[in-house]
Amino acid sequence: MQISKAPVPKYLKDDELTQECKDLLSSLPTEMGWVASTFYKYQGFWHPCRHLQGILSCQKHFEAQDKDTLLVTTPKSGTTWLKALLFTLINRTHFHHSAHNHPLQSNSPHVLVPFLEVKLFLEHENPDLSSFKSPRLFSTHMPYVSLPKSIHDSKCKLVYLCRDPKDTLVSLWFFTNKLRLQEMGSRSLEEAFELFCGGVSMYGPFWDHVLGYWEESLKNPDKVFFLKYEDMKDEPVVHLRKLAEFLGCPFSSEEEKDEVLEGIVELCSFDNLSNLKVNKVGKLPSGEDYSVFFRKGEVGDWKNHLTSEMVERLDRICKEKFEGSGLSF
Ligand code: A3P
Repeated sequence: MQISKAPVPKYLKDDELTQECKDLLSSLPTEMGWVASTFYKYQGFWHPCRHLQGILSCQKHFEAQDKDTLLVTTPKSGTTWLKALLFTLINRTHFHHSAHNHPLQSNSPHVLVPFLEVKLFLEHENPDLSSFKSPRLFSTHMPYVSLPKSIHDSKCKLVYLCRDPKDTLVSLWFFTNKLRLQEMGSRSLEEAFELFCGGVSMYGPFWDHVLGYWEESLKNPDKVFFLKYEDMKDEPVVHLRKLAEFLGCPFSSEEEKDEVLEGIVELCSFDNLSNLKVNKVGKLPSGEDYSVFFRKGEVGDWKNHLTSEMVERLDRICKEKFEGSGLSF
């Protein structure tokens, strides 16, 4: 019997790397990867080689513009959701949230708001971004220390989203097991937990990623808006209003009266997005189903997966790491 093999997705391939990236890789510490076999530690954070190539290209070539908005997230913190919300918010004068032909009805949020290093700068070393109309909206998982210089030099704004580390871990474990090639088998939760606690996860250590943006948001609140998944879940309208103010496009009293905020929240809700045909059957150009970005969309699913020992240990680590920062989960 012939077993049909899916082509290896681009993010797992280590060919097509630039010589600069290959030279760098040979000098970096390595660890076991979550999807690709190896992680490399660059500027204090762990990455598979393809993402690292994307980061290097982005650092070299990305030219931020003053009106850009960059959504920065820790993986599995609700990036897909915030992409949908930010796209709808920023483009609301062009596309009414209730229009039957709203772009979200037929496009994945990942198409409407592309990743820099995981998509645009992964596919091309220096992509032509001239087709993106201002105000541009991009996303990234890059840690603060790795952001391209032009982001600091310009007046562009950063919206940062993170999530309770226990839910982040569980979500990441499910997600990466779906992405692993069949011959790699699944990774156990115990193994994933050990790696996560040791800081070895996509764009980890988790706490360093979060603290980098948390501290910057305190120093520079006009530049960095810091948001937690749990808070957004709890009071989506309140946080959407704050986001609009931060981005310089506040809702008018007319819009408030017309319940535009509630409409946007509803359009971008887990139930609505996950049930759209495009998100049920569509695929990213790299081959993954869009549906992998929708699982449960709940706060506290860790209670169904982590043992009490795991919870105690992860809580202890987080308490130590976030001690004195003013941040807790
Ligand atoms: P779970 O695995 O806990 O369900 P990311 O988009 O950063 O990859 O994060 C994915 C997580 O966000 C998944 O969490 C997914 O179900 C959840 N998610 C996706 N869309 C959402 C939405 N519209 N509202 C709330 N959560 C959403």
